[in-house]
Amino acid sequence: MDWERRRIEVQWTVAEYRQRARAKWSLRRTSEVGRKAIVLGRPTIDATDLEVGDDFKVWSGHRKTLISGWGRMRIGDRVFINCGSVVISVLEITIGDDVALANEVYVMDSNSHGVEGRPHVEAPVRIGDGTWVGARALILPGVTIGKRVVVAAGSVVTRDVPDDVLVAGNPARVVRPLEYPPGCKRAWHDEWGCPCPKLVAMQSALDTAGAQTA
Ligand SMILES: CC(C)(COP(=O)(O)OP(=O)(O)OC[C@H]1O[C@@H](n2cnc3c(N)ncnc32)[C@H](O)[C@@H]1OP(=O)(O)O)[C@@H](O)C(=O)NCCC(=O)NCCS
Repeated sequence: MDWERRRIEVQWTVAEYRQRARAKWSLRRTSEVGRKAIVLGRPTIDATDLEVGDDFKVWSGHRKTLISGWGRMRIGDRVFINCGSVVISVLEITIGDDVALANEVYVMDSNSHGVEGRPHVEAPVRIGDGTWVGARALILPGVTIGKRVVVAAGSVVTRDVPDDVLVAGNPARVVRPLEYPPGCKRAWHDEWGCPCPKLVAMQSALDTAGAQTA
């Protein structure tokens, strides 16, 4: 038996249990929580009309993650919210399945303050399935982002974004369309939840070639 590997696996299992227990505590005020939520660190999650799907993962490390407000907030399955992100709803925020918000992303459905005597803007925000929002991007009130979009780091998204594109900049503009292999659900991949089908196919072709030359 490889004892070193076994030790690492046991350590990881303990860490995962700790993260599950933390999730139970952090999400105790959440109306509905799916299976296997994981929370790393100490986020503040006190949104009062919040429902989250299965495999919800929240990290709160170098900066605190905040999920708050009295608006309707619906978050799908397999969503990852990274450290320092702020998601505040006073009206309606919908985050689809398989969405990742990177570090310090800001999502809000209200401007909080009016300008020039006009009332402040409140408008629903929607982020489509499989979308990856890069670090420090800001998603402004009223914006609908399509499916499998990549929002580049630091973008300020002021307008709706169609499916399957990369947007970048301030204000965010479409840089190019994105092409995915059939069956690909997410713009973002990781080895654990969703390995990129293209990379998996490439790797298995390499493995086959290696086996044939050996
Ligand atoms: C978008 C990103 C993934 C790069 O994707 P890519 O397909 O390799 O894009 P490219 O580097 O080819 O850039 C395409 C164009 O978009 C521009 N661009 C890319 N990222 C940009 C950004 N963050 N802001 C502004 N413009 C950006 C490039 O300058 C380039 O413009 P050009 O065609 O005029 O030269 C990367 O820039 C990014 O933002 N990553 C996010 C990383 C992150 O947040 N990680 C957190 C992990 S949880």
